[in-house]
Amino acid sequence: MAQHMNSSLPEKVPTHIAIIMDGNGRWAISRGLPRLAGHRAGTENLRRVIEACIEFKIQYLTLYAFSTENWGRPQEEVQGLLRILEDVIDRELQQLHDQGVQLRHIGRLDGLTPHLRNKVLQAVEFTRNNDRLVLNVAFNYGGRDEIVCAIKGLLQDSVKIDDINETLVSKYLYTAGVPDPDLIVRTSGELRGSNFLIWQGAYSEWYFTSTYWPDFDKEELRKAVIEFSRRERRYGGVMKNKEDSETNAG
Ligand code: IPE
Ligand code: IPE
Ligand code: MG
Repeated sequence: MAQHMNSSLPEKVPTHIAIIMDGNGRWAISRGLPRLAGHRAGTENLRRVIEACIEFKIQYLTLYAFSTENWGRPQEEVQGLLRILEDVIDRELQQLHDQGVQLRHIGRLDGLTPHLRNKVLQAVEFTRNNDRLVLNVAFNYGGRDEIVCAIKGLLQDSVKIDDINETLVSKYLYTAGVPDPDLIVRTSGELRGSNFLIWQGAYSEWYFTSTYWPDFDKEELRKAVIEFSRRERRYGGVMKNKEDSETNAG
């Protein structure tokens, strides 16, 4: 039965999908609702996308929920977003655990209240042995901040200059141990990275859609995965297809 459900999925699915969940505000405004209603609708969508990832056999999902720059939003919205994070943990944790989801946090926990920080740490601890889907929640996350933290960590450990290489730097990032994202999706029509996974995304495939995050459902995810499967990743090399290579050579 599972096979039947997956029949319209390509064979080559990404191991790791990362999503910039954008457009909550515009989704709400277009309905005459306050921006926070859009953020609430956005969290409702989490369940659908997580379930779709499990069904599609994606192993890692990283969700950009709050950037280091989002603190600059109006106080009321920031407070609302912090409350929403807390509500989501309270409401969804048990079900995520039952589904075999391992929760991780990437970003800074300072800036959150001790209460919320503990809640996040407890959720991570509670799900740490699950292995069906690793879900990294990027909350108070910034790619540049992450690199600065990594540099500090290297210096604190007195790592020798000659021992510093890309593999070692990766181990000092929030995402240590997680493979780089194969596919980065951004919803809402914005065509930029906004400080997300700037190291890890060096060779990620990007997929942009004008759909706002609250409307990005399983079928939208399927479209992104299908598009990914058609891409050829070259990593600076040349095309794999022999005929094409010959044509290019003239
Ligand atoms: C994304 O939606 C969620 C966060 C950044 C927290 P936005 O709030 O950025 O929605 P738009 O871009 O204003 O529509
Ligand atoms: C990026 O979206 C951050 C998240 C989705 C959490 P923003 O809406 O904050 O990014 P900009 O301001 O459009 O670049
Ligand atoms: Mg936005």
